[in-house]
Amino acid sequence: MNSIIILAIESSCDDTSAAVIIDGKVVSNVTATQQIHEQYGGVVPEVASRAHQESILPVVEAALDQAKIQKNQLNAVAFTRGPGLLGSLLVGVSFAKGFAMALSIPLIEVHHMQAHILAHFIDEPKPNFPFLCLTVSGGHTQIVKVHDLFTFEVLGQTIDDAAGEAFDKSGKILGLGYPAGPLIDKLAKEGNPIFEFPEPQIPNYDFSFSGLKTAILYFLQKKQKEDSTFIANHLADLCRSIQDRIISILMKKLSKAAKAHKINEIAIAGGVSANSGLRKAIEEYGIKYKWNTYIPDFQYCTDNAGMIAMAAHYKYLKSEFVGLEVEPMARMEM
Ligand code: KG4
Ligand code: ZN
Repeated sequence: MNSIIILAIESSCDDTSAAVIIDGKVVSNVTATQQIHEQYGGVVPEVASRAHQESILPVVEAALDQAKIQKNQLNAVAFTRGPGLLGSLLVGVSFAKGFAMALSIPLIEVHHMQAHILAHFIDEPKPNFPFLCLTVSGGHTQIVKVHDLFTFEVLGQTIDDAAGEAFDKSGKILGLGYPAGPLIDKLAKEGNPIFEFPEPQIPNYDFSFSGLKTAILYFLQKKQKEDSTFIANHLADLCRSIQDRIISILMKKLSKAAKAHKINEIAIAGGVSANSGLRKAIEEYGIKYKWNTYIPDFQYCTDNAGMIAMAAHYKYLKSEFVGLEVEPMARMEM
């Protein structure tokens, strides 16, 4: 049988990424992270779109080179259709369309959040169905019941900020750079959780993080007024306290869902799943509640085309292709 070789492109936010997958095995995964947004303290959509245009060709060429694959060997080209920033998505969609047209090969659209979850199928061990996935990124926070490779049931999600935004916005208040998630993670390792930040009371499996951000802001404004060196003198403890609270909010809802749905196959995905405290918490809960836990390799936590390639491989097997008229979608249902 001939191999199935797919090129996948991810451009939904501020990472330009391309990957090649051969017979379900990711053989290259190249990502150019846009550093330019650091100076603005957040992702500027127009700047992101322009940076994708500059990076996409070299990133795709590097992914093909690393995989030792020529363009004419490709069987399909996949892309992130959404959700994400429209101008960013447009670059990846247009590029994929051009490739598909020039090579007369099919196009495969992939849902970004489904791909974060399907990143668990890149390496062993793979979760058994049905499993729960806590998907935590800069734009989303969801608890998803994954029935099979194509059926995703969102049990709960954030009603305001995402978990990644909670990290990033708290970091901004603390005067840290963007994205603050990895910086808070690093500083938290040196600190103790001595500050008590409130836990939102939200029903069901939904989340809210905007109240936490406001509480942190008011707390620090008051403390800084009393002592202008407060943040500087307590930075590690503040980071640890904020991180622990975000994690406790996530873990409480996740364990509630696991219990109610009688599921002990538990996964985490998305950029925030790179957080060392969250990874540790999942493992500790796993021991306590007898869960089988699944934590992705770091390169497949934050945005990457490897996960898009994995999702595309399964769609290829079902001949789920789209026409050249396909448009990106900033908002896209699971
Ligand atoms: O999945 P992702 O790369 O992009 C989106 O789809 O949004 O997630 C990016 C988010 C950012 O908010 C970033 O601060 C957060 O993931 N993040 C982390 C860590 N690494 C990335 N948050 C906490 N700890 C980390 N180690
Ligand atoms: Zn993402």
